[in-house]
Amino acid sequence: MTCRKTILFFLISILFQNSKSVNFLVYCPLFAHSHHTFLAKIADTLSEEGHNVTFLAPIIVQKYENFKYLKHTTDIIYIQPDEELKKLGEIMGSAGFSKYWTEEPSVFSMIPSIKLFQKMFHKIYENLRADLSILDSLKDRKFDAMIYEVLAFNAIAIQQYLGIKTLYPTFSVTHGMVLSKSIGEPASPATLSSALSPYGEKMNFQERLMNTVCAFIYQVFMKPPKMISYSHPYYEIDLKEAESKASFVFLNSNPYLDFPRPMLTKTVLIGGISVNTSQIREERLSDEYHNILNIRVKTVLISFGSIMLSTDMPDRYKSIIVKVIEEFPNVTFIWKYESDELDFANNLKNLHFFKWIPQTALLADSRLSAFITHAGLGSINELSYMGKPAILVPIFADQLRNAKMLVRHNGSISLEKQDLGNFEKLRVSLAKILKDNSFQENAEILARQLNNQPISPRELLIKHATFGAEFGELPSLDPYSRQMSFFSLNMIDIFLFLGVFLAILVYFLFTFLRLLLNLLLKKKAVEKSQENRKTK
Ligand SMILES: *[C@@H]1O[C@H](CO)[C@@H](O)[C@H](O)[C@H]1NC(C)=O
Ligand SMILES: *[C@@H]1O[C@H](CO)[C@@H](O)[C@H](O)[C@H]1NC(C)=O
Ligand SMILES: *[C@@H]1O[C@H](CO)[C@@H](O)[C@H](O)[C@H]1NC(C)=O
Ligand SMILES: *[C@@H]1O[C@H](CO)[C@@H](O)[C@H](O)[C@H]1NC(C)=O
Repeated sequence: MTCRKTILFFLISILFQNSKSVNFLVYCPLFAHSHHTFLAKIADTLSEEGHNVTFLAPIIVQKYENFKYLKHTTDIIYIQPDEELKKLGEIMGSAGFSKYWTEEPSVFSMIPSIKLFQKMFHKIYENLRADLSILDSLKDRKFDAMIYEVLAFNAIAIQQYLGIKTLYPTFSVTHGMVLSKSIGEPASPATLSSALSPYGEKMNFQERLMNTVCAFIYQVFMKPPKMISYSHPYYEIDLKEAESKASFVFLNSNPYLDFPRPMLTKTVLIGGISVNTSQIREERLSDEYHNILNIRVKTVLISFGSIMLSTDMPDRYKSIIVKVIEEFPNVTFIWKYESDELDFANNLKNLHFFKWIPQTALLADSRLSAFITHAGLGSINELSYMGKPAILVPIFADQLRNAKMLVRHNGSISLEKQDLGNFEKLRVSLAKILKDNSFQENAEILARQLNNQPISPRELLIKHATFGAEFGELPSLDPYSRQMSFFSLNMIDIFLFLGVFLAILVYFLFTFLRLLLNLLLKKKAVEKSQENRKTK
C-alpha cells in the first residue's frame, strides 16, 4: 500500500467509526412517473435517517424537469439532455398508451417500450462519456453505495468510473426475472409469472408456455447494448457480473400482498415503503371534498391513474359507467376525469368530476366505501394499506398481474377492461362490493397485516442499505448455483444419467429373466421328452 493510500484508508476508517452517516448516490433518469416515485422515496427515507444522499437525475422527458417527488433530499443534480435524447424523450412522452383502452396487451407488448428505454439509457451513457466532467465533479463525494433502477443499466458504467463499491439494483415493479437470474435466484417460468405478464401464480399449460417464451426473449434477445468502461483499460462492462455483485436488491413487492416465491437473502422486499399510513391520516381534505363525502352514506372513488386518462377511454365505456351510476342514486361518485367536456354525464346529481384528486387522503377517509381503479402498483399499495374494498380494472403492463395479486385477499373484485362496456356486470359488481361486508372485512385484515408486518419496509431498507455500505460486496450471499450450467442446475444431467441407468438395469433384468425362463422351459422340455421316452 502506498503512503497516500494508507492515509486515505485511515481517514475513511475514522470517518466510519465516528459517524454512521453513509454517502449514497441515487441514480434516476427522469422518464416515467412510477419509476421516479419509488427511487425518490428510497432517497428520502435514507436522507430522513441522516444519511447523505445525492440524487443524480438525467432529464429525458422534459415535463419531469421540475422534479417534485423529493420531499427531504435536497442534493439533486440534473443532467440536461442533448437534442437526440430530447427526441427519444418526446417519443417516450407521447408513447400513446391510450391505445390500451381497447387493445389487448400480451406478454410481448412491452418489448418496444423496453427497446426505447435501452436506447435512452445508452444515449445517456454516450453523453456522459463525451463529457466526463459531470462525473469527475462527483468523484470527491466518495460515495459508499449506489442505488439505481435495474432498467437504467448505464448506472453500472457510472458506478465503475466512480469506484463505488456497494451496488443496489432496485425495481419499481414487484420483481424482474432477468435480475433474479443475474443474482442466481430461482425464477422458473413454471411458477413465477413475469411482472409484465397477465398471469398469477397458477398458470395453465398455455400460460406457462407463453411465460417461458417471454422469459427466454427477455433473457436472450433483449440484452442492452454494449458499454465500454469510461476509464483505462476500457474493458467491456459485463452487466450480469456487476449485478451479481450487488450487496442487496430492493424490490417494490410486499411479501404479505404479493404471491409467495423462493428468494435469496439478497432480495429485500420493500413494497409499501411509499405508503406512510400515519402521514396520510394527517392529510386534510378541502371543504369541497368534506361536503361531497357528507351528502350520502356511501361514496365511491373512480380513478384510472395518471397514465391511462379517463378522457381517452371509449365513449361506450363512459356512457355505461354513467348508466351504472344512475342506478345507485343513494351513492356518491367521485371520478378523476381530465377534461371539462362532461356532456356525456347527463348532469347526474350523485356524480362529481375532478381533474386531480387527493387520492391518499380520500382512501384514508372512513366515509369512502370503495375504489374503482386501474390496479397500478402505487394505487394497489395505497388502497391495501388503507383497507379499502376495490373494483380492479387493469388496463396494461403490470396492472393485470397486480390485480390477480390483490384479488386473492378477497377484499376486491377484478374485472376485465371490456367489462366497462358491460352494464350488467359492472352494476352487479358495484352492488356486491357495496352490500357484501366481507370485502370490507377482508380488506381491513390485509391492511392490519401490512401495517403491522414484523419488520417494516422502511426499516428493511435502512438496515440493509447501511449494512451493505459498510461491508461492500457480500460474497457470502452469492449462491454457487448462479455459476451452474442450465443442465446441472435443472438436473437434466442427473435425470438423463438415472434414466439411462434405469433403462440398462431394466434391460439386464429382462435379459436375465428371459434366460432363466428359457432355461426352465428347456429343462421342462427335456424332462417331458424323458418322461415320454419312459412311457413308451
Ligand atoms: C455529508 O454532506 C455534508 C454536506 O455536504 C458534509 O459536510 C458531510 O461531511 C457529509 N458527510 C459524509 C459522511 O460524507
Ligand atoms: C411517516 O412520516 C412521519 C412524518 O413525516 C415520519 O416521522 C415517520 O417516521 C414515517 N413513518 C414511516 C413508517 O415511514
Ligand atoms: C335510497 O334511499 C331511500 C331513503 O333511504 C330509499 O327509500 C330508496 O329506496 C333508496 N334507493 C335505492 C335505489 O336504493
Ligand atoms: C379467499 O377466499 C377463498 C375462498 O373462500 C379462501 O380459500 C382463501 O383462503 C381466502 N384468501 C384469503 C387471503 O383470505
